[in-house]
Amino acid sequence: MTTKVTAPDIRAHKTRLGAEPLVMLTAYDAPGARMVDAAGADMILVGDSVAMVVLGYDDTLQVTVDDIAHHTAAVARTKPRALIVGDLPWMSYHVSVEDTVRNAAVLIRAGAECVKLEGGRKRLPMIEALLDAEIPVMGHIGLTPQSVHAMGGFRVQGRETSEALALIDDAKALAHAGCFAIVIEGVPDQVAELITDAIDIPTIGIGAGPRCDGQVLVFHDVLGIEDRVLPKFVRRYADLRTEGVDALRRFGADVRSGAFPGDAESYHLNAEQTEALGLYGGRAGH
Ligand code: KIV
Repeated sequence: MTTKVTAPDIRAHKTRLGAEPLVMLTAYDAPGARMVDAAGADMILVGDSVAMVVLGYDDTLQVTVDDIAHHTAAVARTKPRALIVGDLPWMSYHVSVEDTVRNAAVLIRAGAECVKLEGGRKRLPMIEALLDAEIPVMGHIGLTPQSVHAMGGFRVQGRETSEALALIDDAKALAHAGCFAIVIEGVPDQVAELITDAIDIPTIGIGAGPRCDGQVLVFHDVLGIEDRVLPKFVRRYADLRTEGVDALRRFGADVRSGAFPGDAESYHLNAEQTEALGLYGGRAGH
């Protein structure tokens, strides 16, 4: 795809129909969005993971609609080719249908081109209201981080037959309601494959094995920006923390030794200006 990616483009992207797997990455600011877009991702998710990887919280429950809107606006200002997915945070779609649509509208006005929300069949009234308001919706089932307390921790979901069947039913209900794609997080690969086979919209996996229609990872995990606990499902493609700390340490050493800034990194008066200031022996040029 060389032109702007839209939600209907993504909906049609099923690997069993011969499509290439979809690529989604998170980004939370303009430089990150430019990098993700330059790398050719299909979708940029302004995820509530911003809480953990940028804002320093231990879970995703702390971020608000205004927080996600702030980060979405930064991403949208870069006008990426990739579809911008705004993540509805915890409590923004749990109280009422009206609240849900108003909160989603805040993200759309900030520049999101669709929204994502967590949960299965119990979210159908909210999903239907969003679609009614012409807002494309991406579902998210399995290990849903906003349910961390209800799940008793960040635990793989769908290991029991009854849970796996419930996930398949959830996915079918979301697809039937009109979601254009579904994130499947933290489920055994066989269950993700059954879900992917059971629905006609693409599944985007994270910790859900290779048989989804696409994959999503968090920007900071892929680039190794943090060296804290690495979940099993993450593959690191760079070690920017090590490289970054080394670069910052060398800057500090150069400042302390007087090696920075050098002549080329300084502004200079020309000879006339130097003379006017009475600075004899000063450097000319600029
Ligand atoms: O917020 C996020 O980054 C997400 C992905 C893990 C799918 O929801």
